Amino acid sequence: MSFVEINDIKKAYGEKQVLKGISLSIERGEIFSLLGPNGAGKTTLIKIIAEGITYRGKIRVDGKSIEKMMERIGYCPQEGIVCDALTVKENLDFYAALYHSDKSDTERFIKIFNLPAQKKAEKLSGGMKKKLSLSIALLHSPELLILDEPTTGLDVQSRLELWDTVKTFKKRGENYPDNHTLHGGGRETVGQSSYNQ
Ligand SMILES: Nc1ncnc2c1ncn2[C@@H]1O[C@H](COP(=O)(O)OP(=O)(O)O)[C@@H](O)[C@H]1O
Ligand SMILES: [Mg+2]
Repeated sequence: MSFVEINDIKKAYGEKQVLKGISLSIERGEIFSLLGPNGAGKTTLIKIIAEGITYRGKIRVDGKSIEKMMERIGYCPQEGIVCDALTVKENLDFYAALYHSDKSDTERFIKIFNLPAQKKAEKLSGGMKKKLSLSIALLHSPELLILDEPTTGLDVQSRLELWDTVKTFKKRGENYPDNHTLHGGGRETVGQSSYNQ
């Protein structure tokens, strides 16, 4: 059985049928991209898995229903999860407290991502902000990492850095033994086949 099994998922918003029976599976250690034009339903599928919005069909993660897996999932929504009024360090400490994670872990992310700890989040560049969001999503050592439009709005350099970081975490067997990544990317991720393992 695959780590993520999605079978015949259907989702409608009122009369509008957005997902018409999507099925896919993601293996352990795989980086999986959802590609499609705007409005195709990528975010809807991601929200079903990561936010628990209602759906019809069947989803199993590690053989369990997603409701039982929520705390093992790291999620970075399209709009990010950073609090603008807080500094980088305060953001990490805040989410660490929320996840009941070890606060000392936040220092590790500051070092790995080379983040300006004392800078207010509202003053970060787009790339830095995405990295801070990614750090927050990784704080509780999730087994499944879900990123929605992770590179939208980033320049080429920042995109490459972000993917390098995702790949680094995928390889960090000692800290992230079963790292899987699902991201809804849109067209800009076409051609990144080197990131699809
Ligand atoms: N909360 C909602 N209520 C009504 N329609 C929605 C809602 N969220 C998304 N939609 C519609 O569902 C379709 C798919 O949207 P979305 O999943 O965001 O697509 P994508 O992420 O591929 O661009 C779009 O037509 C969008 O307008
Ligand atoms: Mg979307």
